[in-house]
Amino acid sequence: MTAGLINKYGPWVSGEHFFDREAELKHLIGLLDEGNSILIVAPRRVGKTSLVREAFRRMEERGQDDLLFVDVQDCSSPQDVIVSLSLAAQPYTHLWTKVTDTFTVFFRQVESVQIPDTFGIKLREGLTGDWQAKGQTILHNLSQTDKPLTICLDELPIMLSRLLQPTTSEPYPSKREAADVFLSWLRQMMLQHQDKLRFIVCGSIGLEPILKRHRLSHTITQLRPFPLEPWNRETAESCLNALAECYGLEWERASLNMLLNKLGSYIPHHVQMFFGMLYEDCEKRKNFRPASEDVNRVYQSSMLSTRGHAELATYDERLQRVLEREAVPLALDLLTEAAMADGLKVENARLLMQRAELADGEALLSEVLDVLIHDGYLAWNEDRTTLRFVSSLVRDWWKRSFELKYRPL
Ligand SMILES: Nc1ncnc2c1ncn2[C@@H]1O[C@H](COP(=O)(O)OP(=O)(O)O)[C@@H](O)[C@H]1O
Ligand SMILES: [Mg+2]
Repeated sequence: MTAGLINKYGPWVSGEHFFDREAELKHLIGLLDEGNSILIVAPRRVGKTSLVREAFRRMEERGQDDLLFVDVQDCSSPQDVIVSLSLAAQPYTHLWTKVTDTFTVFFRQVESVQIPDTFGIKLREGLTGDWQAKGQTILHNLSQTDKPLTICLDELPIMLSRLLQPTTSEPYPSKREAADVFLSWLRQMMLQHQDKLRFIVCGSIGLEPILKRHRLSHTITQLRPFPLEPWNRETAESCLNALAECYGLEWERASLNMLLNKLGSYIPHHVQMFFGMLYEDCEKRKNFRPASEDVNRVYQSSMLSTRGHAELATYDERLQRVLEREAVPLALDLLTEAAMADGLKVENARLLMQRAELADGEALLSEVLDVLIHDGYLAWNEDRTTLRFVSSLVRDWWKRSFELKYRPL
């Protein structure tokens, strides 16, 4: 599928813009065919959304399934999720009637069903009070079609972390309770309809650490984990070759190696972003055979600059979402130490923890390391004495951004 590969970074890709991942697609579709519900948790930009979109596109072509893709990252309540799910059915007449059937039972004001724009608002009103029973009816109705239905809830961990965020009117215990009710309901729905409904839950920020921290891990045990790794070096190289061919760029071996070495980990988005920035530079210089010095210059000036920052800054921001507030400065220190000292040694992690003078230091340290490893920032070396950045790009960016704020050990 590489004939028309384009350099696109930011939004998800599918069809001819989707590169490689054949084995993962086959595996994912196979698991869905067997009736599994699946949990895809991988660092952001690895290509989760693209993988599911492409799997859905192929399954749609095959014509044996119904498919609903629901992006829940802007949702903050169970009601929001149910509304988004219902609206996702709109393009599919036979599913949409299942949703609107439920709706007429709620309201008896059938005429407003004809105006899809107002439907979201109406439905939200209808859900207040008893979203659990009504959500259940919607899912039950959706399961009454001839084909199995797969529902993807993309970025569910973001929705959950928002749901769990205490406010002045709603303190933590009631927030945790709300999350527990929602997750238990979802689990119940999956079990009840397992012959007809399959779920894919996707997320960048670690779902497991969030649930562990709030003692809610029991709620997702029915999901089958589906690991999605960054590309390997070979695949990244093939992608760069395919892009070069489409854009008329010529690789020198040394330049290609320089680019791959700079990345260190081949997160598809970073591969595409680097190619895009290099190509822009080639256009400016009207020379489409970049030397390795050009690659290095683009890396230093573009990949690590403020333009790269907008993308890479989220590596910093998302820590604020997953970690408890007291733990954030410790996490930043641990990462900066790892970026500056060629890795974070276990004894240095401990020293940083002691220096932070936290109430429950040991527990917090292990929780923070859990998140940093789970979320793909750091990985153990072979003898498990040192943690290093998985991505050289993220490491270099981290060093640039935090070096001056850091008090070295
Ligand atoms: N299979 C792929 N082929 C080409 N580019 C990809 C692929 N998967 C991801 N990308 C690149 O990564 C970017 C982010 O992909 P996305 O699916 O949104 O990641 P995630 O959902 O994991 O954050 C895309 O805009 C694209 O540049
Ligand atoms: Mg995504």
